[in-house]
Amino acid sequence: MTVIVTGGAGFIGSNFIFYLLKNHPDHKIVCLDKLTYAGNLSTLSSVLDRIVFEKADICDRKEVERIFEEQKPDVLVNFAAESHVDRSIEDPELFLKTNIIGTSVLMDACRKYGIKRFHQVGTDEVYGDLPLDRPDLFFTEETPLHTSSPYSSSKAAADLLVMAYHRTYGLPVSISRCSNNYGPYQFPEKLIPLMIANALADKALPVYGEGLNVRDWLYVEDHCKAIDLILQKGRVGEVYNIGGHNEMRNIDIVKLICKELGKPESLITFVKDRQGHDMRYAIDPRKIHSELGWLPETRFEDGIKKTIKWYLDNKEWWQEIVSGEYQSYYERMYAKR
Ligand code: NAD
Ligand code: TYD
Repeated sequence: MTVIVTGGAGFIGSNFIFYLLKNHPDHKIVCLDKLTYAGNLSTLSSVLDRIVFEKADICDRKEVERIFEEQKPDVLVNFAAESHVDRSIEDPELFLKTNIIGTSVLMDACRKYGIKRFHQVGTDEVYGDLPLDRPDLFFTEETPLHTSSPYSSSKAAADLLVMAYHRTYGLPVSISRCSNNYGPYQFPEKLIPLMIANALADKALPVYGEGLNVRDWLYVEDHCKAIDLILQKGRVGEVYNIGGHNEMRNIDIVKLICKELGKPESLITFVKDRQGHDMRYAIDPRKIHSELGWLPETRFEDGIKKTIKWYLDNKEWWQEIVSGEYQSYYERMYAKR
């Protein structure tokens, strides 16, 4: 079986490639990635001899069609996206191009050349947010889409297009909507690696607002396993929510990172809140559990320790990143906050 993994040089896509190589060594894997600021070929260096790597933009119809003609994929899993909410607030248009147009270009190629499954990697952020005083509420697959940021709006638009291609053209699609991931190879602009990197450098730890926002954290390998199960046993035309009932307040995560690294909480600095900041995300994962038997396997206490250890053991990976384009992003985003 030939699987195209778009965005495979990014955080979750690369972890998914490692997962496939370990669990399905017979699959042929083609990674299609534009290598934006968030994509790093060095992440895949240990497996480059076992996969095909194609540097291409998912919006580039000619290139996408060439890759389909040459590789004849059976399955495509679309991780390629602009993925950071703060960047989407700075520059929405790029998010619309990659996340919406790119998804449609990929699905057009699937229609033209045929595919057994097009899987769209979605996010729980399409459901908007939940109030802090209603811990009884969770996102189910039936929760209406109700987005807050340009990022989540572009992901919701992509999900709607995916369902439209299923209904209109009969494209065999599936969608997963996962909660916040953490683990190795996450770009240091996101909460957990940013706080680890800053704490190690004894820099301020910028917590937005009062740090009371809640996210439902899932170890990246558990997400990869869920997608693999959906590809194998999930029903075509269905949406599956993925989350592990692991809700944490941002401030508690940052304090935990300080404790694990032996750094003082005095590094924590409350900064201006994110515009339109979602309060709480929380997934109801009953559908994927009852239909596919999926359950998260990594407890947060273990996953966060493994993640911190990975960042300590792999400083050269992220230090190279934080020295490049990221410097000017960090200045823009945090200097006057
Ligand atoms: P990431 O930003 O780490 O990686 C994105 C990858 O896509 C990079 O390798 C980048 O080079 C590539 N890419 C971007 N634009 C491209 C283009 N036009 N053509 C080809 N490649 C392009 O993102 P991530 O955190 O790994 O997220 C992957 C997917 O999972 C995204 O679709 C995201 O919306 C979704 N998701 C992420 C989370 C999370 O917590 N990180 C949670 C739920 C869903
Ligand atoms: P992030 O990792 O950007 O993921 P998302 O916005 O997609 O959930 O942020 C996670 C939470 O952490 C979110 O509530 C915003 C907050 N946050 C901070 O408080 N400070 C930071 O520097 C960053 C990047 C995020």
